Amino acid sequence: MLIWSANKKLPENIHTEIINGVQENHNNKEKFFSSFHTSSKNFTDVLVPYYGNLIEEMMRDLGLWSRTQYQYNLWVQMYNSETTTHEPHEHFTGKEIISFNHIIDSSNNKCFYFLNDNGDKIYPEHQESGDIFAWAPWLVHGIDKVKEPNTNRLIVAGNVWLKTYDAPNINTMTCTGYMDDGEDVIWKRKKDIVKRDLFSVPVFELKVDLDKLILPSAEVAPIPDTTLEYLSSLVSSALNTLQDKFDTLEFDMIWRNNYQSKSDYQGYHIHAKTHWSFIIYESVERSRTVFCNPSHKEVQNQSLYESSLDMPLTYNADYFKPGDMILFPSWLAHHVPAGNVGTTISGNIILKFNNQKTSDVKYCQTYSNENSHYM
Ligand SMILES: [Fe+2]
Ligand SMILES: [Fe+2]
Repeated sequence: MLIWSANKKLPENIHTEIINGVQENHNNKEKFFSSFHTSSKNFTDVLVPYYGNLIEEMMRDLGLWSRTQYQYNLWVQMYNSETTTHEPHEHFTGKEIISFNHIIDSSNNKCFYFLNDNGDKIYPEHQESGDIFAWAPWLVHGIDKVKEPNTNRLIVAGNVWLKTYDAPNINTMTCTGYMDDGEDVIWKRKKDIVKRDLFSVPVFELKVDLDKLILPSAEVAPIPDTTLEYLSSLVSSALNTLQDKFDTLEFDMIWRNNYQSKSDYQGYHIHAKTHWSFIIYESVERSRTVFCNPSHKEVQNQSLYESSLDMPLTYNADYFKPGDMILFPSWLAHHVPAGNVGTTISGNIILKFNNQKTSDVKYCQTYSNENSHYM
């Protein structure tokens, strides 16, 4: 099951630093030590120069060095007869191509095993101090408990994943996405003609529990804290996925749009002086929001076609039902054609960084849209 193996004795100074690091950080003595979930810079500093070279050697042996760009992560684990041990698991999230294990200090028994579909444990033959072996990251593996007392079984483990991959028979492939949880891993084959969509506008579509929105129908009504907290957590869960970070968010304004007759509409507008805005479809049968291309006038002026399919002037967000929400940058212009009866709830959000002054929204205002009198 192994794809590469060797025996490499760790230099004594690195060995000592790893042991010291484990002693410093192994707080729960009943649990096996792992630096995997701790971003311990100390271990990184100690491990990277040595293991960077070792991984390069492995990649060269496997014929992957010259035709890939790769990254790796490293972690330290320590087990003994007093600690728990590592249950069966695997390392594959869609991106890793090699996992490896370097036994720094071995135990008498071979602890590392692979698990097949029959539940059989398959032990790599060489598990002495210095043995390093690599396998496909999707193989399920586990660690038997160390039997003998007073022995710390110490290992360094790692994963290698690819950023680019060149093959003799196909074009270069690139892999996007990071190791973080939740990040989509996408492989793309490099083509002679590459189409990119530049300057995309992030917009979120979310589900809202309307029962948690307490926005009284009076013309001006206080908004309960529970509603603000619910909306805040909902919006934060979306905005926190973006790369541009913020400290806190505040609602600049929240209001209800009441389309009383099918002739009610809202004209072209942006939500000025705020960062993000949302529309929650409350009782309208179906959304009729139309977003406008930020380069509307340039496209309109220079496009060969009345209505370009590749650079459309508008985006019809006409598929939302009650309980749906769209969250968009406030500068994104939009309008609502006539035809709906019912209500939507809109809001503006201001993102704050520390030390910025704050406002305090407490009221919800209801607007009718008879004459498109409000943005
Ligand atoms: Fe593992
Ligand atoms: Fe609006």
